[in-house]
Amino acid sequence: MTVALEMRGITKVFPGVVALDNVNFTVRKGEIHALCGENGAGKSTLMKVLSGVYPVGTYKGQILIDGVERHFHDIRDAEAAGIAIIYQELALARNLSVAENLFLGHELKRFGIVNKEKMHKESERWLREVGLNVDPRELTGNLGIGKQQLVEIAKALAKNAKILILDEPTAALTEQEVGILMGILRELKQRGVTCIYISHKLNEVLAIADTITVLRDGQTVGTYPVSEVDEGKIISLMVGRELKERFPRIEASPGDVMLRVRNYTVMSPDQPGKAVIRDVSFEVRKGEIFGIGGLMGAGRTELVMSLFGAYPGESRGEVEIEGRPVRIRSVGDAIRAGMGLVSEDRKKYGLVLGMNVKSNVSMASLQAFAWRGVIDHNRETAGGLQAIHTLRIKANSPETIVGTLSGGNQQKVVIGKWLTTRPKILFLDEPTRGIDVGAKFEIYNIINQLVRDGVAVVIVSSEMPELIGMCHRIMVLSEGRKTAEFPASEATQERIMKAATGGMEA
Ligand SMILES: Nc1ncnc2c1ncn2[C@@H]1O[C@H](COP(=O)(O)OP(=O)(O)OP(=O)(O)O)[C@@H](O)[C@H]1O
Ligand SMILES: [Mg+2]
Repeated sequence: MTVALEMRGITKVFPGVVALDNVNFTVRKGEIHALCGENGAGKSTLMKVLSGVYPVGTYKGQILIDGVERHFHDIRDAEAAGIAIIYQELALARNLSVAENLFLGHELKRFGIVNKEKMHKESERWLREVGLNVDPRELTGNLGIGKQQLVEIAKALAKNAKILILDEPTAALTEQEVGILMGILRELKQRGVTCIYISHKLNEVLAIADTITVLRDGQTVGTYPVSEVDEGKIISLMVGRELKERFPRIEASPGDVMLRVRNYTVMSPDQPGKAVIRDVSFEVRKGEIFGIGGLMGAGRTELVMSLFGAYPGESRGEVEIEGRPVRIRSVGDAIRAGMGLVSEDRKKYGLVLGMNVKSNVSMASLQAFAWRGVIDHNRETAGGLQAIHTLRIKANSPETIVGTLSGGNQQKVVIGKWLTTRPKILFLDEPTRGIDVGAKFEIYNIINQLVRDGVAVVIVSSEMPELIGMCHRIMVLSEGRKTAEFPASEATQERIMKAATGGMEA
C-alpha cells in the first residue's frame, strides 16, 4: 500500500507545555489508523496541526501528503488538500439548519445567490449516505448529539475528503449509531478514503482499525498492525505500565437511607403533557454506589438533573434526604441540601472554559473558600492544587485556563469541582466519557473513597461494564419508566440490555 500521509518530526509548543515532541506519524492510503494515548498525550493537537487549525510556522516539522510537502495556512488549505476533521467537541452551529451546516463556507450559489433548493437536494443525498433520516431544513440544535455527530460526518463526506479525521466520534453515540458509523467507515475504506480514528474505547479501536499508533506525553511510542496488539498491550503502551484490573470494586457497606425518591415524575419542558420520567421510585443508602442504566433518551439525565434542581420541566413526587422531605427548586437548593452533580455536558453545565482551574474547582463551594463573603485566594489555590494532584490533572498550575486543557482533563476538573463541595449525595452522569483507562481507574478510586466516607453515590452510565464493575445496585430505565432493579452481583449485560429495551422484570 502507498503512503497517504507522513508527518515528520512534529513539535508543537504552547506556553509552558510541549504538547508534541518530535512526533513521527505515517498513514497508508485507504487504511483506518487509530491514534491512542492518555488524556493530554497530544492526539487532538497532532490532528489540529494536520488540519490547518495550527498553521504552518506555529509548529516545527513537515507534513507530506501523497509524498509532497504541504504548508497549510488555515483550515481551508487543508480542506483543499482533501483533509477533513471532525472535532472532539462538536462544532456545528446549533442555530443553523442541517443543510446550512453541511455547506457552511461552501454554499452552493447560483448567480451569486445561495441556491437553497439545490443545497437541500444535495443535503438529502449526503444525509442518506450516513443513514440519517432528518429534514435538511431542521434546526441543527434540535437534533440529539448522536445525530449531530452524523451530520458532521455527512459534512466531511460532502467535502470529498481523502483523509478523514474523527476525534472521539462515538463518545456520545448510541450503540445503534456506533454500528451505523462503523458501517460507514468500512464503506469509505472500500472507496479508498483514509481514516484517522481517535478513541478511548479500545474495543472499538480493535474492531475497526488496521493500524494503531500510540502517543505518550507528546511522543510516538510506536505504530503496530492491529493483529499484533490486544487491549492489555495498548493500555500498557499508553500508560507505560501494566494495569491489571479495570474496576477497583469495593464491598458495599450500606448504612441509612440517604436519598429516597417516590413516584417521581418529570414533565417535558417543551412538549406539554409529555412525561420524560414517569412514576420512578428508588432509594440510595450511605456508603453504596447506585447505578442507573438505560439507552440514550431513556430519561436518565433528566432524572438526575431534575433531582438536582437543574431541569426546566415540572416535577411531581416525593424526595427525602436523610428521612426529611425536601423540595429542591434550584441548583442552589440542591447544593445546600448536600447534593453534587457531575454533568454529562461539561461545556454547558460543568465548566467556564475561559476561567482557570482553581476558580472552576472552587465555583460550586464558594462558601468553603469565602470568609464573610471575601474569597480566600490562598485556600482557593490550595483547593486547585489538591484537585490537580488527586485527579492527576495535566495542567501546569491552578492558574491554567481550563479551555486549554485536553478534553479528558477538562472532565477531571468537573469532578474535582464537586469533590471539594463534600457532598452527601453525588450524582455522576457519564463520569468517564472521554477519559483514558488509567485516569478512569483513578476516578473510580476516588469514588470508592467517597463511598467509604459515607457519601451516597449515583452513577449514570451507558457503559455496562462500568455499571456492573463499580455499582452495588443497578436500576434500569426505559422510556422514562423503571423497568428493573437488581444487585450488581446478579447483573449481566444481557439483563441490563433487556430491561433497557423495555423488557419489564417481575
Ligand atoms: N490551546 C492550548 N493552549 C495551551 N495548551 C494546550 C492547548 N491545547 C492543548 N494544550 C495542551 O497540550 C497537551 C496535549 O493536549 P491534547 O488536547 O492534544 O491531548 P489529547 O491527547 O487530545 O487528550 P484527550 O484524550 O484528553 O482529548 C495537553 O497538555 C494540553 O493541556
Ligand atoms: Mg483530545
